[in-house]
Amino acid sequence: MNAAQQSILMCPPHHFGVDYVINPWMQGQLGQTDRVVALRQWDNLRETLSAFAHIALIEPQPGLPDMVFTANAGMVCGKVAVVSRFRSPERQGEEPFFRAWFEQNGFSIAPWPKQICFEGAGDALFDRGRDLIWSGCGFRSDSAAAALLATIFDCEAIPIRLVDPRFYHLDTCLCPLSGGWLMYYPPAFDAASVAAIERRVPAEKRIAVDEADALQFACNAVDLGGRVIMNGATPALQARLRSTGFTPVLTPLSEFLKAGGTAKCLTLKLRETTPAR
Ligand code: ARG
Repeated sequence: MNAAQQSILMCPPHHFGVDYVINPWMQGQLGQTDRVVALRQWDNLRETLSAFAHIALIEPQPGLPDMVFTANAGMVCGKVAVVSRFRSPERQGEEPFFRAWFEQNGFSIAPWPKQICFEGAGDALFDRGRDLIWSGCGFRSDSAAAALLATIFDCEAIPIRLVDPRFYHLDTCLCPLSGGWLMYYPPAFDAASVAAIERRVPAEKRIAVDEADALQFACNAVDLGGRVIMNGATPALQARLRSTGFTPVLTPLSEFLKAGGTAKCLTLKLRETTPAR
């Protein structure tokens, strides 16, 4: 898909803040975000993305500070959406707003069992070269989500088990890139999941990042037509990306990192297809 045709859902950060702790990044950050800086950083991200994609907005809601992280609204493919079922009660209030947005914007909502937790595109990522979904579990989404996604989207779904609480959503430590490349932080996964990745992605297409990059959420990147939009990356990783034909675009999102999310978490691609379609 041409990046110019992509459409991305974002939620303005008017009610963003760290008001509770549901991941290790939020520890010690209660009330510590700067509204003005957050708005400026979010605006810069929106501006950067809008050069390459249409930006759709959902209205932020008071009392739902994490609603800015629209990756967790759900998962879409074509005109079908799965609406997230959040694990933590703090975020469950977002569900009806995201559901209504999908309904009002022409998506049909796939049925999903109430008891299965699933945090949307935060934990389920389409590969950009293979007809498969990488389906994260271990902290937020249940392992049963993979099989359900495979049925709904008629596509193989590979369960990936997360083991490091700092990388609690799959999109914090794994980023499929166009042409079948995969940028990821291997220590965030259990051995079976690393093996599953290595079975499907040949060594020359794997970009394993080290802890310094993982900790600045380099894998939490938005890939748009060869550009890799991210909070930060070491010069070494930037050089690696350039040498493989990608253009890293850095846009600082430190205020949002205090809540455990950066570029990818703040976006949801609305025009998704699997490579085979
Ligand atoms: N504070 C949010 C949470 O813990 C951050 C979500 C980040 N989103 C993501 N797709 N990784 O749920």
